[in-house]
Amino acid sequence: MNPVILKIGGSVITEKGSVSSTRKDNIDRISHEIASFKSETDVDLILVHGAGSFGHPQAMKWIKDGFDARGVYQTHSSVKILNSMVLDSLTCAGINALPIHPLSSCLLEDGRLVDMQVEKIKIMLDRDIVPVLHGDVVMDRKQGASVLSGDRLVPYLAIALNASKIGAGSDVDGVLDEKGAVIKKITPHNFIDLKNQIRGSASSDVTGGMLGKVSEFLELAKKGINSRIFNAARKDMTSKFLYGEDVGTLISDK
Ligand SMILES: Nc1ncnc2c1ncn2[C@@H]1O[C@H](COP(=O)(O)OP(=O)(O)OP(=O)(O)O)[C@@H](O)[C@H]1O
Ligand SMILES: [Mg+2]
Repeated sequence: MNPVILKIGGSVITEKGSVSSTRKDNIDRISHEIASFKSETDVDLILVHGAGSFGHPQAMKWIKDGFDARGVYQTHSSVKILNSMVLDSLTCAGINALPIHPLSSCLLEDGRLVDMQVEKIKIMLDRDIVPVLHGDVVMDRKQGASVLSGDRLVPYLAIALNASKIGAGSDVDGVLDEKGAVIKKITPHNFIDLKNQIRGSASSDVTGGMLGKVSEFLELAKKGINSRIFNAARKDMTSKFLYGEDVGTLISDK
């Protein structure tokens, strides 16, 4: 079955204003929303989580002059701690879940994801296991190593695995206009006018914040795969997305 890809933002599962601080209540609540959906359906699910305060502040230190081995190790080991907490929470909620670390399974070229071992993801899905990936620092043909955001992993996975549905849960109700209202739909056409209302992130974010996310998802929409950006920090919103309700902002081709 074509999998659903759910990205949960670091803004939801961590305190992005701090360093290495989790929002455990949100992690556990989302785990339970996913567990209840999985128990009622046979949908294949891939989870990607952002790095939040376990990745952005750590990576910030190395972005300017490039990552050396110590920079890769410090950033990767920090985000891996968050990944373990997410896995523990999913497991406690009764979900069969296993980690996939992009540092060990992806290759970049100038920040672009050019190769990934997707075979192991397919085996997990076949065995009703939820693969859990995350934003990471990854070896790069040109730069030695660079940051791979969860937002960039999602379109690659969506195409490689022919996803049926994409959702990105963040800490805002969707993409907001200048008055703070949710923009119901973004297409390549209206993006030209909306672009200057969409910014990076209010907190430290080395991967472009909301504008980075919308840009990645618009490229995917042009290839025929739609996505939604919704507020996963609110109770039941992840569940509503999974069940197909009209939540947040739809990013589509037309
Ligand atoms: N027009 C906009 N609508 C909504 N959010 C916006 C807008 N412009 C900028 N933002 C900022 O984008 C942030 C969400 O992006 P951000 O990258 O921080 O979160 P995330 O992707 O959930 O976290 P992570 O990158 O750690 O996974 C919001 O908290 C807000 O500060
Ligand atoms: Mg982000």
